Amino acid sequence: MSSTLQKLITPLAEGPAEPPRNKVTVVGVGMVGMACAVSILLRDLADELALVDVMEDKLKGEMMDLQHGSLFLKTPVIVADKDYAVTANSRVVVVTAGVRQQEGESRLNLVQRNVNIFKHIIPQIVKYSPNCIIIVVSNPVDVLTYVTWKLSGLPKHRVIGSGTNLDSARFRYLMAERLGIHSSSFNGWILGEHGDTSVPVWSGTNVAGVNLQKLNPNMGKDGDKENWKDAHKMVVDSAYEVIRLKGYTNWAIGLSVADLTESLIKNMNRVHPVSTMVKGMFGIDEEVYLSLPCVLNSTGVNSVINMTLNDEEIGQLKKSGDTLWGIQKDLKDL
Ligand SMILES: *[C@@H]1O[C@H](CO)[C@@H](O)[C@H](O)[C@H]1NC(C)=O
Ligand SMILES: *[C@@H]1O[C@H](CO)[C@@H](O)[C@H](O)[C@H]1NC(C)=O
Repeated sequence: MSSTLQKLITPLAEGPAEPPRNKVTVVGVGMVGMACAVSILLRDLADELALVDVMEDKLKGEMMDLQHGSLFLKTPVIVADKDYAVTANSRVVVVTAGVRQQEGESRLNLVQRNVNIFKHIIPQIVKYSPNCIIIVVSNPVDVLTYVTWKLSGLPKHRVIGSGTNLDSARFRYLMAERLGIHSSSFNGWILGEHGDTSVPVWSGTNVAGVNLQKLNPNMGKDGDKENWKDAHKMVVDSAYEVIRLKGYTNWAIGLSVADLTESLIKNMNRVHPVSTMVKGMFGIDEEVYLSLPCVLNSTGVNSVINMTLNDEEIGQLKKSGDTLWGIQKDLKDL
């Protein structure tokens, strides 16, 4: 007696199922991880999405909630487990896991606590997806990207930090808003360390190729009557402001990570400001990760654009490099 399924469907193809081609894993199902997951789903980037976390109920709940949206998505497989076997054959793995800074905690202490967590996560990722590209989102992102590179044993072009991709997006939004145009039509880059000491490259800001510093030589400087410099201050402050208002930031980082994922999965060779290993560039001698304009394709960071920076901007990059190395050199068990 054949079943309804057998009566309904006649199989044609034989042999085992093919592995997924564009599988994406998100590690950590907090606000940031889920914003990344939803953004990646809505942009139809993956044929399989895997979620991993240690909180099993929350993990299962998030998986089921997304699966129930399958009718409206084009990612046919959504899976989740605390066991990293569920991540096998991923092309891109987004790491959002980690602990946050506690009141009065030093940066070194925070990083060391995250190193201890990453020591569990990263080898598991590589074990199941030895050919993947890892995008680190957890903060402090530049140090944790270095930590991930060390722990993974992967070549440097396959370990990327989300870096100043979000800072640059905020900057472009704020500048474009003031000019009454769309973010994508204002070109400007924020490089270096993600967060408070990021470096705005005012010398390169332009709209339609018209350099803004040529129109206003004080653009971005202290003596500027129009105080454009304030836009960078707002970029730095805005993260704190959003956290004060809603408790965390997640949508913009999620959207920005999906954009990086698209360049990797679709082999686009688009240029993004992301954190990469900069030893040997701009006179930086240590193994530190900082954001520079990187060409992303399906192999990861294909290449880095050699920015024409002025001495002050190079000085700021070097200073960030020194600060980061100051923390990294004291990390244990790497
Ligand atoms: C990505 O860039 C690298 C480095 O330039 C290049 O060798 C590789 O062929 C590119 N990958 C693809 C799939 O085009
Ligand atoms: C990058 O460009 C600068 C000039 O802007 C030049 O001095 C430097 O040699 C270039 N670096 C490389 C690696 O080509």
